[in-house]
Amino acid sequence: MKKVGIIGVGEYLPKKVLTNADLEKMVDTSDEWITTRTGIKERHLAAKDEAASDLAIKAGQSALEDAKLKGEDLDLIIIATISPDMQTPATACIVQNALGAKKAICFDISAACAGFVYALTVAQQFIARGSCKNALVIGTEILSSITDWKDRNTCVLFGDGAGAAILSEVKSGGIIASYLGGNGSIYDILMVPAGGSKMPVSQETLDKRLHFLTMRGNELFKIAVKAMHDAACVVLERAGLKAEDVDLVIPHQANVRIIMAVAKKLGFTEDKIYLNIEKCGNMSSASTATALCEAVKEGKIKKGDIVLLDAFGAGLVWGACVIKW
Ligand code: COA
Repeated sequence: MKKVGIIGVGEYLPKKVLTNADLEKMVDTSDEWITTRTGIKERHLAAKDEAASDLAIKAGQSALEDAKLKGEDLDLIIIATISPDMQTPATACIVQNALGAKKAICFDISAACAGFVYALTVAQQFIARGSCKNALVIGTEILSSITDWKDRNTCVLFGDGAGAAILSEVKSGGIIASYLGGNGSIYDILMVPAGGSKMPVSQETLDKRLHFLTMRGNELFKIAVKAMHDAACVVLERAGLKAEDVDLVIPHQANVRIIMAVAKKLGFTEDKIYLNIEKCGNMSSASTATALCEAVKEGKIKKGDIVLLDAFGAGLVWGACVIKW
């Protein structure tokens, strides 16, 4: 089995910024409530003419430049998203065409906020077994397109963005352990009820606003802390490492209180946790992807560092991986 590592990263955040003060004018909320309950101050929103593929293409181009590769060098493109351009074809096909990645296999993964970790792990298998050389993995979301802007319980949480990574064979280090899991018995805790084959869009579903994200947030909070904690423990054990060996944790950015509760349980100090939730909100699969990119670009991850990615999301699904940089 070949060793597989990340050789380039990129991100794209849409230009428009929606602040908590803006939200105060839209729903019955306050900057104080949002900040203290979630840690979010602002989030980026895609323009009307931007689709998930547009964000992904920009993040992908940036990652290709970082890796000093061209689209034609890619053998595989995996897009993690719950807000694809359309139900079919896969958003990965649209990205493949734009990047000129003519020989790349392309498909999407629906693993919500754990999507980037799921996609990294799948891409790793292709390269480790020698069936692909270079893979592009992107978490891209326009959650604003499935957010109910009249529901204060959810609309303050989400944002839009895309983050990308190029995976290839490396001589040392790379992804040293990964762990994915799921529990479909609580699939309805966070979902978009209508718009699929179970409940196709109709006037009734539109009137009942069922094509937007619905969430039992309070219940999910506790489950999220346990899922992220357990995923980190399993993956560290698989890697033969302890919490103190980790140089930086890139957690899914759903709520700063969830992240800090997990960090406390695992014994991580705050300086070991990378956050971009304050300026981006929860961007589902794009959260860990952009946070990883930003941490690299800011010099917070150096050669030889041990990085832990840890995520959970709708499904419920969870995933974690340990990367030696
Ligand atoms: N502004 C002001 N008040 C709000 C509000 C908002 N945007 N949203 C909810 N509230 C109110 C509620 O109506 C409730 O009022 P009540 O006590 O009069 O009924 C009160 O705030 C407390 O609600 P609660 O749900 O208990 O708050 P919370 O501390 O659990 O925070 C979340 C809510 C959603 C921020 C939190 O539960 C959370 O982050 N859950 C996990 C969500 C998640 O991880 N989602 C993504 C998964 S990938």
